[in-house]
Amino acid sequence: MYLMRDKSALEQLIESDEFSNRLNLDRKTYGLVFDKRTLSSVYEIIKKYNVNYIDFPISSGKESLIFKVIMDDGTSRVMKIYKMSTLKFSNTFEYIKGDYRFDKEKINRTNVVYVWAQKEYTNLDALVNSKVKAPKPYGFYKNVLLLSYLGTKTGPARQIREIDTDFNLLYSKLKINLWRMYNVAKIVHADLSEYNVLYYRKEPYIIDVGQSVSIKHPMAEEFLRRDIKNITSFFIKKNVICNEGNLYNYIKSGKNV
Ligand SMILES: Nc1ncnc2c1ncn2[C@@H]1O[C@H](COP(=O)(O)OP(=O)(O)OP(=O)(O)O)[C@@H](O)[C@H]1O
Ligand SMILES: [Mg+2]
Repeated sequence: MYLMRDKSALEQLIESDEFSNRLNLDRKTYGLVFDKRTLSSVYEIIKKYNVNYIDFPISSGKESLIFKVIMDDGTSRVMKIYKMSTLKFSNTFEYIKGDYRFDKEKINRTNVVYVWAQKEYTNLDALVNSKVKAPKPYGFYKNVLLLSYLGTKTGPARQIREIDTDFNLLYSKLKINLWRMYNVAKIVHADLSEYNVLYYRKEPYIIDVGQSVSIKHPMAEEFLRRDIKNITSFFIKKNVICNEGNLYNYIKSGKNV
């Protein structure tokens, strides 16, 4: 069969109607947003999990892109794409090395992003299995993850920093989730803040756990203290009576809740 010899199979795939329909973005946009390797990973996820189309972008940050996608059966999910270029090798290394679950992997600049996505998948799975409120992970391929969508038809759930609510009640709910995260899932978030907790169906949902580490990681204690400092200072600003020491003792108490 005659194929345009100057075009790679991937480029031909990208230009096919099937692919562009599912991406639902004009060619210029996806050319700018995705590198070729990422496009092929997105395509793998689309095929393997029956993603019908990409609905709209939710967030575009330094390290990742988040899209709402619609599956063939009509349900909504989230596709999180770690950017291949900006995830910093040196920053990520300390979270992988020292975590007994991942430090056997041979790490280099390319696959560090893949290990990161796999790590987020494993951490989310541990959270959901421990009854911590977090997005359910459905799968991953290289630097792309498929997660449950937290939000409504009109838009994604908001970060707790963006809402007005009974913050005393919210704090007491979050505390229980943090206790379970440490004592049941046995991981430390390591980037906990009001940016990484979403308010969904009146509950705090913990997100963004690519960097989270096992409680046995040599830095786990330091990360836990930093998380507690960040989250209590947010709730103190919201006039909740709480402090670092109390939250630390509560999480470390091992008392069943
Ligand atoms: N499952 C989800 N459902 C709805 N919205 C989500 C979901 N996951 C993430 N988001 C939205 O996308 C934002 C960024 O997601 P996340 O925190 O996982 O990525 P990040 O690595 O922090 O990205 P960045 O590079 O922007 O810091 C979140 O703050 C949230 O608003
Ligand atoms: Mg985040």
